[in-house]
Amino acid sequence: HRPAVLVARQVFPDTVDRLRQHFDVEAYADSALIGREELVRRLQGKAGVFVAASEPIDAVLLDACPSLKAVCSMAVGYNNIDVAACTARGVLVTNAPGVLTETTADFGFALMMATARRITESERFLRRGEWTHWSYDLMAGQDIHGATLGVLGMGRIGQAIARRGALGFGMKVIYHNRSRLSEAEEAAIGARWLTLPELMAQADHLVIVVPYSAATHHLVGREQLALMKPTATLTNVARGGVVDDAALAEALKAGQLAAAGLDVFEGEPRVHPALLEVPNVVLTPHIASASLATRRAMAELAADNLIAALTGGQPLTPLNPEVLASA
Ligand code: GLV
Ligand code: GLV
Repeated sequence: HRPAVLVARQVFPDTVDRLRQHFDVEAYADSALIGREELVRRLQGKAGVFVAASEPIDAVLLDACPSLKAVCSMAVGYNNIDVAACTARGVLVTNAPGVLTETTADFGFALMMATARRITESERFLRRGEWTHWSYDLMAGQDIHGATLGVLGMGRIGQAIARRGALGFGMKVIYHNRSRLSEAEEAAIGARWLTLPELMAQADHLVIVVPYSAATHHLVGREQLALMKPTATLTNVARGGVVDDAALAEALKAGQLAAAGLDVFEGEPRVHPALLEVPNVVLTPHIASASLATRRAMAELAADNLIAALTGGQPLTPLNPEVLASA
């Protein structure tokens, strides 16, 4: 008989159709995030689940859903999934790395540019009807070309952003990461490794792309923000919680940095009210990977993984391949 799976999020109808060729599919029809109790209820008897970046898959949920064999996410970040708890119960976990790298890097760069050049602040000014004359310093911001790009988190996306800065805009690239790039990788983009405090102090434009974990919670907080240049910008396309949003709002108000661009927030979709009050921050609703082509590729990869995981194939991007080895 065919395995039963839950698609816990609305996704492209043809992705669901493809899954129906292999599985008895229950598709959650609401566009909002599924509630925890609803998720547990609908997972009863299901062998697999298709998720994205927000469904909390933890030990309590796993113990309440003993039929579950595979959790396949269309996101690259997987801080919503307790991978160790899954591994301990023989549940395979897959994410969607690679397919969104360039699209997310495009957005990170765009958000950084919008932040430095005050694009959304300028548009609000114009729409409010306040544009009465040209002025020498009207909405004057910070240059991108030739400036120093600081990349916090030098994984695939960080490297793709660094390449854009170095090759496209003549930026000097500095970075901080737990592990250093190889000398050849550093040489290819002229990137220099620094400690986190050095990075904070030297970056003209800091772009954050480090995954969220207990180790990166509030990695950028009051102390780090105090090190930034008053002309610097900070852009976060990683995860809420890597930056202390309350401390950031205070630092912006105090003029400790020039501006911030944020695609992710602590406790999103709520946004810290203090951030909504400062004009020099560009706010977007967690859309860094949202080109249609890339969202499609992410959904397809998650579907491919789910099909492989439950039909005896080789999942493409397993996070705990040891589960496959011991199955
Ligand atoms: C989105 O935030 C992702 O992790 O893919
Ligand atoms: C606020 O809306 C501003 O841009 O000043």
